[in-house]
Parts: sequence; structure tokens; C-alpha cells
Amino acid sequence: MSHLLEVKDLKVSYHSYAGEVQSVRGVNFTVDTGESVAIVGESGCGKSVTAKTIMGLIQTPPGEIKKGSQILFEGKNLLDMNEKEWQAYRGSDCAIVFQDALAALNPTLTIGRQITEKIMIHTDMNKEDAMKEAERLLTLVGIPNPAKRLKQYPHEFSGGMRQRAMIAIALACQPKLLIADEPTTALDVTIQADIIDLLKDLQKEFQMAVIMITHDLGIVADIATKIVVMYAGKVVETGSNYDVFYNPRHPYTQALLRAVPRLDVEEDQELESIEGTPPNMIAPPAGCAFCTRCKHCMKICQKMEPPTYEFEDGHTAQCWLYHEYAQK
Ligand SMILES: Nc1ncnc2c1ncn2[C@@H]1O[C@H](COP(=O)(O)OP(=O)(O)OP(=O)(O)O)[C@@H](O)[C@H]1O
Ligand SMILES: [Mg+2]
Repeated sequence: MSHLLEVKDLKVSYHSYAGEVQSVRGVNFTVDTGESVAIVGESGCGKSVTAKTIMGLIQTPPGEIKKGSQILFEGKNLLDMNEKEWQAYRGSDCAIVFQDALAALNPTLTIGRQITEKIMIHTDMNKEDAMKEAERLLTLVGIPNPAKRLKQYPHEFSGGMRQRAMIAIALACQPKLLIADEPTTALDVTIQADIIDLLKDLQKEFQMAVIMITHDLGIVADIATKIVVMYAGKVVETGSNYDVFYNPRHPYTQALLRAVPRLDVEEDQELESIEGTPPNMIAPPAGCAFCTRCKHCMKICQKMEPPTYEFEDGHTAQCWLYHEYAQK
């Protein structure tokens, strides 16, 4: 089966005065139609850069997408497209929701205007129909009093409602793929759960593929069917939700999971934070980037990049522990 999205050996750097920041260092993953994929990892591991590259939002320079990188959407390499093609793609195939709705929305235009403009650019609806459609979208994302809300400005919305409005704008073009980059990080815990539920409902209802980006594995347990774990610009583990939560293979994933409270365990849990910090991406280490923080670090880990091992179907980890000669 061909995938909706296939990211192949994606490498993205930023050129700064201090040197070349290797933000994304050869990322591979796929997303199928209607599939919900989570990308998780600590701050700075390259999640947003990956998302922005998929949306064509990397400024070059200072950014640089390395030769050989591929992002196939329905089989077509996005990285070969011109700006006009990118605009069409962003209007109809793919949309993104950011963490900071206030920064992403235009403060000088009403929510209604922002939604109808997007609808009118990408369809042949007239203003009246676009307004009706906008009202329908606000209702769909759970905003009460949509007719009144359409006339209001972003600052008149609460954080949670603003996030819903941004989701409504993203849905205006009925995207096949919705990327949500930490959409709930700035919100209260209860509102976070509401937004996650909303995304889950929308994904089911429209058979829309969703890439959910977060540093919190706990958040995605419920929504993602596939999990991609990133560390220092690379994918270190991918697998089904079940495999990653119940049989994590990479020591980094195992450490991430020890930092998440579990709902299926009754007794008091001791949560561990992961000691140490990720490497400097201007001079990333030659071997495994996690080795300085890894309890199982072997000599080879410091010298050579680990190969990717496959366990269950689609469950992979990049770690020397699974070499046949490694001590078990
Ligand atoms: N415009 C930029 N200029 C220079 N470096 C950048 C730029 N954007 C990102 N980077 C660097 O690229 C790396 C990856 O950043 P990215 O924003 O993708 O991290 P992230 O995983 O999204 O983290 P967070 O969880 O904090 O959002 C970081 O080292 C960051 O400093
Ligand atoms: Mg980010």
C-alpha cells in the first residue's frame, strides 16, 4: 500500500554564527490515510522543524534542506514543488495548528473573516456561503454561539476557544493531513484533554490523518495509533501505540515512559526525570546521541551510530543493545 505521507532521510540544518545546527539528521517515517501518528521527544529534538518542513515553512536561508531528503505526499516529492504548488498544497491537502494560537492568528481580523478568507481562496464559495460554512465549522469544533463568535477578534477568545478556532481554520480546506504541533501545551490540563478529544473525534469523523507533536507521551496514549520517538534530530524508535507503551525497546523511550504517570497502575508511582541533557546539535556525537545519558551505554555506542533493528511488524529501534553480540 502506498502511504499518504512518506518522510525519507530528511535532513535539515540551520546556519548560524556559531555554526551549522543539525536540527534534523535523517528522519524516516510514514503516515497513512486516516492514521494518527504522534511524534514525541524532548525540547529541541527537531519535532517542529520536521513539521515545518512538511508544511513548506522553512526559510532558506538560514535553513537548509539537505539534498537527498524526500517528503512524498501521495507519491509526489513536496521538496520539488514551487511556491505556487506549495500554496495549493497548504490550502487543500495539509494544514497545521500551532501551540500559540494568539501568535498564529491575525489580531486585526475577526475570526469569521479569517475563516471565510481561507474558504474563499480555496473554494468558489461566495461570501454568504463561506460565512455559513464558517459557522458550521465553529459548531463542529465545539464553540458555542458561533454566529456571535464569528464577529469577535482572537483576543476576545479564551486560550482553549482560540485553539478551537485555529482548528476550525485548519479544517476549512478539509485537509487530508492535519499537523498539530504541541496544540495543548499552553492550556490547562482539563482543557488539554478536551482539545485532544476534539482532534480524535475530527480524525475519526473525516478519516483525516493527524500528526500530533508533543514532548508528553502521556498525552498521545489515547489518540495515536503509531508513535515516532525522536532524539537529537533522529528517529530512535517507532511502533504501534501498543508496542511502544508496553514493549519499548530504546532506552530513551523507556526513560520517557518512566517520566509519565500511568493510569493503569494503582499504587503510588515514582516518576523519574531523565538525567543529563541532549547533545549540542552543532557538533552532534559520532555514535548514539543518547549514549551519555544511557544506563546501558557500551563502547561501540560512543563510536558508531547504531543500526535500525526491527522487532514486531513496524516496530523499530536504533540501538546497539539489539546487536546479536550485545550482552543481554
Ligand atoms: N530558526 C532557527 N534558527 C536556528 N536554529 C533553529 C531554528 N529553529 C530551530 N532551530 C534549532 O533546531 C533544533 C530543533 O528545533 P525544533 O524547534 O524542531 O525542536 P522541537 O523538538 O520542536 O522542540 P520543542 O519541544 O521545544 O518545541 C534546535 O536545536 C533548535 O535550536
Ligand atoms: Mg517545537
